[in-house]
Amino acid sequence: MDKTYLIANWKMQLPLKEAISLAKEIANASVGFTAQAEIVLCPSFDSILMVAEELKNSSIKLGAQDCFWEAEGSYTGEISPKFLAEAGVKYVILGHSERRQNLGENNHQINLKIRAALSVGLIPILCVGETFEERQEGRKDFVIMQQLNHSLHDIKLLTNDFLIVAYEPVWVIGSGQAVDPEEAEHTSQVIKQTLFDLFGTEIYKQQTAVIYGGSVNPNNFKSFLEQTTIKGALVGTASLEAETFTEMIKQTS
Ligand code: PGA
Repeated sequence: MDKTYLIANWKMQLPLKEAISLAKEIANASVGFTAQAEIVLCPSFDSILMVAEELKNSSIKLGAQDCFWEAEGSYTGEISPKFLAEAGVKYVILGHSERRQNLGENNHQINLKIRAALSVGLIPILCVGETFEERQEGRKDFVIMQQLNHSLHDIKLLTNDFLIVAYEPVWVIGSGQAVDPEEAEHTSQVIKQTLFDLFGTEIYKQQTAVIYGGSVNPNNFKSFLEQTTIKGALVGTASLEAETFTEMIKQTS
């Protein structure tokens, strides 16, 4: 059976003490509910080791919000995927639209980061999505296929590799208004087709998953899970409160 993913992206929202106490509350509240689902917390880097400590006796996994494309070296300020893996991180969000917009991150850099992450056993959560203008111009599916083709160019998924693609329409992130689940499902199928074209049947079936992100909350999470190809959610705002996030954890079982 396919896993369901519920992935919290805490962005740069929580100071250390709040991150620790939220991780503790979520770990406590989710005991018994996580068997069917892969629950992942992605704190900011300054709290990642302390959050790792809180999660060490729970089934909740640790994720990072980015990583660099080299394993080590003279790269001031960068974060090594290898060191993240050694610290217990299992997942890494790559290509989030806030990094593409604020830092000019491009598909080529994201491609290098995905390679680096896979090479140390991390599972990349590759974010793709259209802006409002791209949507109005009728280019949504093309933009998403292009982001996938460029950021996954020439990448091979080896036997133990896994790749998650998060469809995140840029214009609904943090807006409180998600897209219709049926529409997200259409885009998810476009993503699946592109993954099939890139990787072939077996790998696309066994080693990839598509999730949705953008204003997911306890009221709409289930309607995304009910779609045929959407296997979970990447959640920002609603992951910052123990109550709302644990409510969604319960909905996965
Ligand atoms: P949101 O953020 O849930 O607040 O819309 C999602 C994301 O940016 O991954």
